[in-house]
Amino acid sequence: MPILTEPLHLHSKHTQLSLFEDEQGQIRVAYFGTRLHDESDAMSMGCDQAPLLYSTYADSFSTPRNASGEYDLCIIQADGQISLALVHEHYEKHSLDKDRHEHIFTLKDPAYPVKIEIHLCVYEQSDTFEQWVSIHNESNTGIQLLRASSGHLYAKANHYFITGFRGTWGGESLMCETELALGHEIDFCSDTGTKAAQEGTPGIIIALNEPASETKGEVILGSLAWSGNYRLWCKHNQHHYLYAGVGLDITPAPYQLDAHSQFETPKMIWVYSDAGKGEASRRLHRWARQYGIRHGQKERYVLLNSWEGVYFNFNEETLYRMMERTAEMGIELFVLDDGWFGNKFPRNHDKAGLGDWEINHTKLPDGIRGLTEKAKALGIRFGIWLEPEMVNPESCLYQSHPDWAIQLNHREPKRERHQLVLDLSNPAVRGYIINVFRDLLTSNPDIDYIKWDCNRKISDPGSTYLDASHQGNLAIDYVRGYEEILRVITAEFPHVTIQACSAGGGRIDYGTLKHYHEFWTSDNTDAVERVYMQWGVSHFFPAIAMAAHVTASPNHQTGRSTPLKFRFDVAMSGRLGFELQPCDMNDDEVNYAKQALSEYKRIRPIIQFGDLYRLSNPWKNRVAAHMFVHGKRAILFAYLMDKWLADWPPKLKLQGLNPQARYRLTELNVDDSGFRTESHQRIVGGDYLMNSGLLIHWRRPLQSLCLELEETD
Ligand code: GLA
Repeated sequence: MPILTEPLHLHSKHTQLSLFEDEQGQIRVAYFGTRLHDESDAMSMGCDQAPLLYSTYADSFSTPRNASGEYDLCIIQADGQISLALVHEHYEKHSLDKDRHEHIFTLKDPAYPVKIEIHLCVYEQSDTFEQWVSIHNESNTGIQLLRASSGHLYAKANHYFITGFRGTWGGESLMCETELALGHEIDFCSDTGTKAAQEGTPGIIIALNEPASETKGEVILGSLAWSGNYRLWCKHNQHHYLYAGVGLDITPAPYQLDAHSQFETPKMIWVYSDAGKGEASRRLHRWARQYGIRHGQKERYVLLNSWEGVYFNFNEETLYRMMERTAEMGIELFVLDDGWFGNKFPRNHDKAGLGDWEINHTKLPDGIRGLTEKAKALGIRFGIWLEPEMVNPESCLYQSHPDWAIQLNHREPKRERHQLVLDLSNPAVRGYIINVFRDLLTSNPDIDYIKWDCNRKISDPGSTYLDASHQGNLAIDYVRGYEEILRVITAEFPHVTIQACSAGGGRIDYGTLKHYHEFWTSDNTDAVERVYMQWGVSHFFPAIAMAAHVTASPNHQTGRSTPLKFRFDVAMSGRLGFELQPCDMNDDEVNYAKQALSEYKRIRPIIQFGDLYRLSNPWKNRVAAHMFVHGKRAILFAYLMDKWLADWPPKLKLQGLNPQARYRLTELNVDDSGFRTESHQRIVGGDYLMNSGLLIHWRRPLQSLCLELEETD
């Protein structure tokens, strides 16, 4: 007797997922797409080719019509057999509130004591679907997981266009779309162990039939909430089906799941849109601000970070002068980056001190207290950098606990940036890190902000804590340990804002963001290259979480010179910050910065909470442009990436405005080069701006526009 006697239609505002149970007790997907007027139409064509909601290795052989040889779950049972068959046993629905409805399908293997729960959470207003699975080993012996994905999507179309977001240090979230030919497969993965996103955020865009457009066509946007090794793969099989599988990556060794224990996969977030990827991003951003990011509905402060300003070269005086200038410019928070700790092994360079989280008394005789007092006296907030997962062999911590570093027996562990990774699978290590935070934050209650860095990957993947049969668990248990530390710290110090940094953008993922307020987008702060990176980031992550800093020109990483206005206009489209020595700025620069900063504070709700419309793609056009719309107000940013003498870019068509309303246009951040449009302080109809467009006078490369639009009554 089936548990589901009727099909189950799960709805969000615009999307529908229809499921049913077949005669063998398996859950199948009848429909995923635009919400239907009559939900039951989803079943009207017969469902003999309906894919499984979650498939095992054995299933990959038994569904010949749409089989692609792919599967979500593969287990080695205690008897050594690679065998699992799932039958539906129980269904439950929990409505968490008016917006969130969780559906749980429990499946069991009739032959082995293994239970699987498939969780599907539907977020009604933001049209977002979350899927994850928990695997329960109910036997008295261990089993091994070879694959445990969060789930997969199936589609059938004539063509598939897949966008991936490759990354590396200094070049994060650089997107690339490609058509997936019949019979081909594409894989996006990361194997760094510590950080998912350094090799590309664990996200994907699947466009059906046509390349992904901002405004039209069917697209599915997927993002895995996991900060460790992952695999996202799409296979276009011979029968024209697309299988898109998503999950953490267990390779190269199986994961040992002990007797009577469970394994929960990370959550996979799916958003479907039939109106292009612009709408898909906006839906995901809404979800993120409400559920995906810590305090996503609270405005973010403008900060100045000390790193590119002084690197390791500072003392108390240097910092006090920087803080004074920070306060004078109207910046709200000062963040002291690397270099403040270590005494026996002072952190005057990156070769020593990591792990010894005590203030360096030579550099900072008045301690952190001196800095927080100074900040308070100036009326600004104070934040500090830590890299808690790491250790330099030249540190007191390593001298007393060399076994706490990840390492292989009989081998000298490889150093990267002169450091080793601490073994977070070990509870003693986690306890040590938690205490570092407890000591720091209880003895300095005025620390408002932590920049949590993680600058290297795992190599030599061995643990002195895990026994021989669990060595293969290290990379996953590491991430679970990391999340546990964050859960403890964020519960104990809920008021502290935390930034995820990982050699730049190594932790731009929703696994990380549920604990953090924001991420450092890239160590590459060149405003020109940032336009491309920030464009990529914007597909999954809202501007409120994207730290973007104005830095010195020429840029320290690329040597490129850019106008101050351009740097401001780029940084202001995210969470604005500064990363330079403010005492080196001349009076003109300070005055310009003060003005831009006061504008940012005024318009930040539009950027941090508004809906994003990407208008002109820098990968395809010389002009990059996007805008944020929030109620009756909007902000447009446009950047001329390059200019050829005889090339005059066309008018820029805006989006997201009210076609019936009239808007007052005000150019912000205007510099000596004058206005970019003739529309400053003009009142123009929303319909005109969207249908005919805005004329921008582009004369020189790296000119930019920041335009405020406000509905007049
Ligand atoms: C990493 C970070 C930088 C900075 C340095 C400090 O590279 O990405 O922002 O904090 O570490 O060592």
